[in-house]
Amino acid sequence: MANVCVVGAQWGDEGKGKIVDWLSERADVIARFQGGHNAGHTLVIDGKVFKLSLLPSGIVRPGKLSVIGNGVVLDPWAFIKEIEVLRGQGVDISPESLMLAENTPLILPLHGELDRAREESTSVAKIGTTGRGIGPAYEDKVGRRSVRVADLADPATLELRIDRLLTHHDALRRGLGLEPVDRDALLKGLSEVAPKLLEYAAPVWRVLAARRAAGARILFEGAQGALLDVDFGTYPFVTSSNTTAGMAATGTGMGPDSVDFTLGIVKAYTTRVGEGPFPAELQDETGQRLGERGHEFGTVTGRKRRCGWFDAVLVRQTCQISGVSGIALTKLDVLDTFEELKICVGYRIDGREIDYLPTASEEQARVEPIYETFEGWPGTTAGARSWSDLPAQAIKYVRRIEELIDCPVTLLSTSPERDDTILVRDPFAD
Ligand code: GDP
Ligand code: IMO
Ligand code: MG
Repeated sequence: MANVCVVGAQWGDEGKGKIVDWLSERADVIARFQGGHNAGHTLVIDGKVFKLSLLPSGIVRPGKLSVIGNGVVLDPWAFIKEIEVLRGQGVDISPESLMLAENTPLILPLHGELDRAREESTSVAKIGTTGRGIGPAYEDKVGRRSVRVADLADPATLELRIDRLLTHHDALRRGLGLEPVDRDALLKGLSEVAPKLLEYAAPVWRVLAARRAAGARILFEGAQGALLDVDFGTYPFVTSSNTTAGMAATGTGMGPDSVDFTLGIVKAYTTRVGEGPFPAELQDETGQRLGERGHEFGTVTGRKRRCGWFDAVLVRQTCQISGVSGIALTKLDVLDTFEELKICVGYRIDGREIDYLPTASEEQARVEPIYETFEGWPGTTAGARSWSDLPAQAIKYVRRIEELIDCPVTLLSTSPERDDTILVRDPFAD
């Protein structure tokens, strides 16, 4: 049985949620392995919209097991709220359908406060984070002072963890002009949410091993995108986790051989939210038009996404870094009505041409895109469900992308709706 890992291959918001939802029909288990409620994944099923941040996109399908792995950072209050909202939309959620790894580190209110205080401080360049405390929570994880889900079961351990954490945070807060953390209020808040979280807590690594042995198909759901990866992204304008496929194993407690097919999700153009370099960005009417046609506003923060042409240099690079076996190309329909389209095929810097994104952030900000121009297509691709529905020029555009990124198109998405999807090759069939 093949297991599939879905990862974003650009700067996030590629349409991972839609594709994971579509693929989850063929999977038994859907597992998140990194990120937190900085993610915003939108699903549209028969006109009904579901917005997921923390819960795996498979949660909306009955009979599947959704898993939050240890690589995620979890805000208990956001977790409980998301469950309530989805239940209100008619989704059935129980400890049989949702499991939370016992070794998942928690995001506490102090993490969000620190994240926002840093962003508001004028002494360092803004990253444009989602303000959800993601970075500070991951810092505490590697700093060995996190409160983890399992710690909630024992009040004495919880107090020890909190005291260690506050020694660090109160010192930081003094420097930023913030009040010390109210220890008692924090402990009270945590003791209130503890039973609600512990209900879902499980040794996820054991559950996954058992399911795998029984022949279950596992779908790993990545959040963010490869260019936001803390190692390989446009550092320091990145998120604080590894967003590339290698994280699926460590973020759930499975071995590196647990992924058989890595599906990169790729938007037919490029977007980015927050600060940082973006070589093919269009700060003109065309960029505006892409944003309007693609409804490019962040699901989490409502911020306007920056837009630009498809950058084949970036996607070729991220496909290599994540070991992508095939891509799902999304939002092709957004390019309908453009008379002319461009694809970035290389960069120019200091009089030289290069075919990769350099590592130095100063160089990343300076590279100039080299474009190839394409004829737009007549009519529409919106809602197309087979290749034969696509205009010849659209097929030419897709084929050229495959050539440039050196990776085949496995799925093609032509609208937000679940079923407006063209299957070229079944990733689970490998
Ligand atoms: P994710 O973070 O990667 O899951 O992506 P988001 O959900 O944040 O953003 C993608 C947006 O595009 C959502 O509003 C989707 O409903 C929408 N979407 C997904 N695929 C398509 C598509 O093929 N065409 C169009 N027009 N919209 C799409
Ligand atoms: P999904 O899963 C797009 C961006 C933020 C910011 C940077 C760091 O929906 O694709 P953070 O709060 O993580 O410390 O912010 O990362 N970012 C995303 N951009 N899609 C996302 O998730 C993102 N999650 C974080 O805008 O630039
Ligand atoms: Mg998103």
